[in-house]
Amino acid sequence: MYKIIKAKKLVEGIYLMEVCAERIAKTCLPGQFIIAKIDERGERIPLTICDYDAEQGTVTIVFQVVGASTLRMAGLKEGDYFRDFTGPLGCPSEFVGEELSELKKKRMLFVAGGVGTAPVYPQVKWLKQRGIEADVIIGAKTKELLILEEEFREVAGNLYITTDDGSYQRKGMVTQVIEDLIEKEGKKYDICVAIGPMIMMKFVCLLTKKYELKTIVSLNPIMVDGTGMCGACRVTVGGRTRFACVEGPEFDGYEVDFDEAMRRQGQYKAEEATAMEKHKCKIGRG
Ligand code: NAD
Ligand code: FES
Repeated sequence: MYKIIKAKKLVEGIYLMEVCAERIAKTCLPGQFIIAKIDERGERIPLTICDYDAEQGTVTIVFQVVGASTLRMAGLKEGDYFRDFTGPLGCPSEFVGEELSELKKKRMLFVAGGVGTAPVYPQVKWLKQRGIEADVIIGAKTKELLILEEEFREVAGNLYITTDDGSYQRKGMVTQVIEDLIEKEGKKYDICVAIGPMIMMKFVCLLTKKYELKTIVSLNPIMVDGTGMCGACRVTVGGRTRFACVEGPEFDGYEVDFDEAMRRQGQYKAEEATAMEKHKCKIGRG
């Protein structure tokens, strides 16, 4: 059992939880994820790690309510427990394994979209702790849906925030900011890491390809076991089938077949909607 020591609503529909999971906190690295299960019969929910504290033995997750299971999860409070909290799963971010002296020469740009802002945080923090300041773009639909701004101010070199509706700071999508930074502000980068909705990552890659800017994306397909056994998380990368849970979740963005990944991600939408309705009726919110 894994105790929740902090449970907080960040913005409408997005929640943060700090969970006691000592072994994971001591061994995880940026880019990895966990699978949480509320109880014996609960769905396995894969979530990228947002932060971790090896000394305290805690792992922070951030999730969006997208279906019946995440709606149930949002109802958990401080002092409640997860039945299972498995990890760290997946491969750490590529740069974690690089020689620090080489990494310090690289100019890095992180592009975070919506709730995908959470998994970007441990990467930028890890770099900052090693004396590397990366530029970060955060895109949110509106000011009300922006998360982790203060946390990013402490770890990013330059932080650029944009909202689709212009309700806070810049107006437009993250791709507009990338274009402005490179074309109008003369910024140069060696590597871009983009994490957010599939459609955002697809369009970021189409744009960065134009600038020959290597782009890494983090994929979050449907997962079941998270250990390479079931094949649910398969994606096509460079014409080959890859399992995001054990070979990813990060891949070279130019090689990802995003259209196929988006089709697969949406294949259980009807079942998810039915489960959500049933759960709402059960808790009297229908
Ligand atoms: P969103 O729809 O609010 O989009 C976030 C930002 O992405 C927008 O503000 C915009 O700047 C950018 N964006 C969106 N569409 C774009 C396009 N066509 N071109 C360029 N930029 C675009 O994001 P959300 O509702 O928070 O996203 C939820 C999705 O993120 C879910 O599908 C979830 O599965 C996914 N997600 C992915 C990861 C991951 O590891 N890849 C992690 C968490 C969540
Ligand atoms: Fe089953 Fe990846 S989730 S193989």
